[in-house]
Amino acid sequence: MENFTIYNPTTLHFGKDVLANLGLILKEYGSKVLLVYGKGSVKSSGLYDQVKGYLEQDGLEVFEYGGIKSNPVIEDVDGAAEVGRKNQVDMILAVGGGSVIDSAKIISVTIPVTHTGWDFFSGKARAVKAVPLVAVLTLAATGSEMNPFAVVSNHALGQKAAFGSPLTFPKHSFLDPRLTISVPRDYTAYGIADLIAHCFEAWFGNGEASLSDRFVISIVKEAMEFGPLLLNDLTNYDLRARIMFAATMALNGTTMYGRSSGDWGVHSAGHILSLLYDVPHGASLTIVYPAWMRHFKAQIPGRIAELGTRLFDTPLTADQSIDRIENFFLSIGCPVRLSGMNISATSPQAIIDGMVSNKVNGAALKFGEGEYEALVGRFYQ
Ligand code: NZQ
Ligand code: ZN
Repeated sequence: MENFTIYNPTTLHFGKDVLANLGLILKEYGSKVLLVYGKGSVKSSGLYDQVKGYLEQDGLEVFEYGGIKSNPVIEDVDGAAEVGRKNQVDMILAVGGGSVIDSAKIISVTIPVTHTGWDFFSGKARAVKAVPLVAVLTLAATGSEMNPFAVVSNHALGQKAAFGSPLTFPKHSFLDPRLTISVPRDYTAYGIADLIAHCFEAWFGNGEASLSDRFVISIVKEAMEFGPLLLNDLTNYDLRARIMFAATMALNGTTMYGRSSGDWGVHSAGHILSLLYDVPHGASLTIVYPAWMRHFKAQIPGRIAELGTRLFDTPLTADQSIDRIENFFLSIGCPVRLSGMNISATSPQAIIDGMVSNKVNGAALKFGEGEYEALVGRFYQ
């Protein structure tokens, strides 16, 4: 087992009606709030009006930045930071999925400085101060609600990059599973796939950690058991709650203790598909994971076989494990080839070039020269 430190300062409020305490908690940080949200779901669901009601009832002054897109872009981070800076906000309230919360994390460290948001990704700026961030989560997937990570695209530079600092954990996150009931079937499935992929990234990382391995297996089993039930019963509160809790636990540190790192090669490759073709994050991972496991099968046959054997409670070879995992993704309506997203006409070379310029790689399993071609080829076969 590797050395580790446990630090997770996010206070998580989980369950029905937890939002009732929102105004009270925000008041701890001052009186001016920058409310950040996405393209439109918060307005159509009525959540926007509900949240504004809570804030106004508690006498908070609200400034807004809406329109953050899925697979968020750096221009919105800078635009929102400008609104926050101009109005000297005391806190940020992010209401949405991972894209909104991730953007808000970078907004929170950009407001206090003269840097642009991208300077944190490029290494030009270090996070030294952050406006307190509170999140209301509306989509179960990324774990952003209880981790410090943020992933943002810069199309001008052709990059989708990640940043995280001890300052970018949300102070509080509010998770009412009822807020996820309006998430459509496809994004519900992508969220289930994403949480499973986060567990797999830990499983294939560096370091032997038997208890954290058991956490991985438990979280993935939870998702594989209740995810399909949820997809047949999208308004079921109890199933929404199980998946929401699983998604948080899949990337809040729990699966990582005792490892020096996860692998993250699949995420790194998946980000290129999102960057180039705006593939939803979870869908990018279900295309890459089977290809990635087949690619590295000869190097880690035992680890892949053990994953399948423990997940499906029956002795499986590496090949059988990959097939079973791929079939699970298909069974919940996720693509396992580019053609599944109707983007089969894309150029493999553009994807390979994106991988080269973004230096796609894992921490444990490394791509050698010419190996991107082999991996990308599998996205089509
Ligand atoms: O923009 P709106 O209108 O809100 O619509 C969103 C969006 O179209 C919609 N949605 C969200 N909540 C909804 C809803 N629709 C109906 N009802 C609701 N309650 O869902 C769509 C997807 O939202 P998005 O926030 O993009 O999804 P997700 O939470 O999967 O976030 C994806 C982003 O997170 C990054 C990904 O790379 C991607 O950019 N990730 C962040 C991580 C982290 N912070 O730790 C780790 C992940 O591996 C991932 O990389
Ligand atoms: Zn992910």
